[in-house]
Amino acid sequence: MCLSDPVLSAYGVASSIPAPINRMMARFAGSFRSGVDINLGVGYVNEETIPRDLIQSALTQVLADPEKYKVALNYGGPKGSPNLIQSLRDFHITRKIGGLTEDVLNRKEMIIGPSGATSSLEGIAHTLNRGIVITDDPKYFIYTHLLERLGFELLSVPQDCDGIQPELLKQKIAALGERQQEISFVYIVTINNPTGAILTNERRREIVRIISDVCRKQNRRIPIIFDKAYELLIHHPAVPAPESALLYDELNIVYEVGSLSKIVAPALRIGYLIGPPGDFINALVQKTSDVGFSAPLITQEIASYFLDHHIQAQLQKVNQGYRAKAAAISRYIDTELRPLGVSYCGGQAAFYYYLTLPEGIHTHEDSPFHRFLNRNTGDKQIDFLNGVEKGPMVSYIPGSFCVHAQGDLVELGKRQFRISYSFESLEKIEEALGYFRQAILFSQQATCGGAMNLLWSNEKID
Ligand SMILES: Cc1ncc(COP(=O)(O)O)c(C=O)c1O
Repeated sequence: MCLSDPVLSAYGVASSIPAPINRMMARFAGSFRSGVDINLGVGYVNEETIPRDLIQSALTQVLADPEKYKVALNYGGPKGSPNLIQSLRDFHITRKIGGLTEDVLNRKEMIIGPSGATSSLEGIAHTLNRGIVITDDPKYFIYTHLLERLGFELLSVPQDCDGIQPELLKQKIAALGERQQEISFVYIVTINNPTGAILTNERRREIVRIISDVCRKQNRRIPIIFDKAYELLIHHPAVPAPESALLYDELNIVYEVGSLSKIVAPALRIGYLIGPPGDFINALVQKTSDVGFSAPLITQEIASYFLDHHIQAQLQKVNQGYRAKAAAISRYIDTELRPLGVSYCGGQAAFYYYLTLPEGIHTHEDSPFHRFLNRNTGDKQIDFLNGVEKGPMVSYIPGSFCVHAQGDLVELGKRQFRISYSFESLEKIEEALGYFRQAILFSQQATCGGAMNLLWSNEKID
């Protein structure tokens, strides 16, 4: 008997094909040789920053105190653990995160997502009406891919190293004309993934002002979602402390999504959302209930204990580690890559650099640059070590995966790429940066039509 496959929804059909970026990373991971290849593509947090011992002792403390942590191994509720919500509130207030005060937080709701910030973002996509989502370009490709699969249309606004550009935001909204009615929500990543750009406080205010004007004209609330997944990872001392847009949100349209993944451990799956009470938050709580309640109660209680006892030292440790790496990488890029015409954003917060190569040097999977770094050039001298084993391969995220395919940056994106300095050691990253330099020189030779071997007479590759 020949049975046909289950009938998929439009979302099911769109999701049955893995995203190109996932295919590329899966290919790299499938052949990854530990100690040889260098993975600058993944956004994994550095294992060294994950406080294993403290998490273990937090687990012990939680289980030893059933008075406070009542049913830690049972089902949780759809809003999240009251202990964790209290700890997060205290953390924000005592450390003045974003300048938030008790007074402001008293007027807002805080809810915990089922599985990290990712799940809160997914909940938003399921509870708001389909329409246009305004976002920055380059864009957070994981979430925007989901939005597109769900049938949202993206309106991408180019950013620079200070984040989304308010003037362009205004122009793009104006150009929508009547279709402004179709704007569903605004999604902005405050410390950008992929670019590492830090949205300035001035621009944050300007965004709220611009969208508030649109809301007033249409007599409706358009939510602005600020994704603050990396906001506790600003490690450059010269960057002013970010200011929460909840402080000046006159129309109750601002929602902030936070995460403990990058500063404590992704596996705890703790993400939270803060915003004005109302139907939207109520719908998100119901959505959390529908997918099996908020994050496992035990990890919420561990996170609560951790926040109450260890967060200060943890933040210092994590940020010091990333600062040291970023400073060394910036030095290398400035001295070795900038003279070749490379420019970049990032390195002041989180763990990404977003590099732009000179005209003509592309980063997509078929480019000489990519082939060099994947030892796929067809030239044995480049592809193999001692003529036998494949040379070290380096992964990165090509800009073409990061820019919006229907946006303004398609051409520029072709010669851009993201590297993550989180997962690999500084030693390995510096080795990889040397290969990037060689790959640029190789690409220049290849695109100038010169024989690839010419490279070897001019530039020694070691
Ligand atoms: C911009 C952005 N938002 C959200 C997330 C997801 O965070 P979580 O681990 O809390 O789901 C990430 C993870 O890389 C991210 O880069």
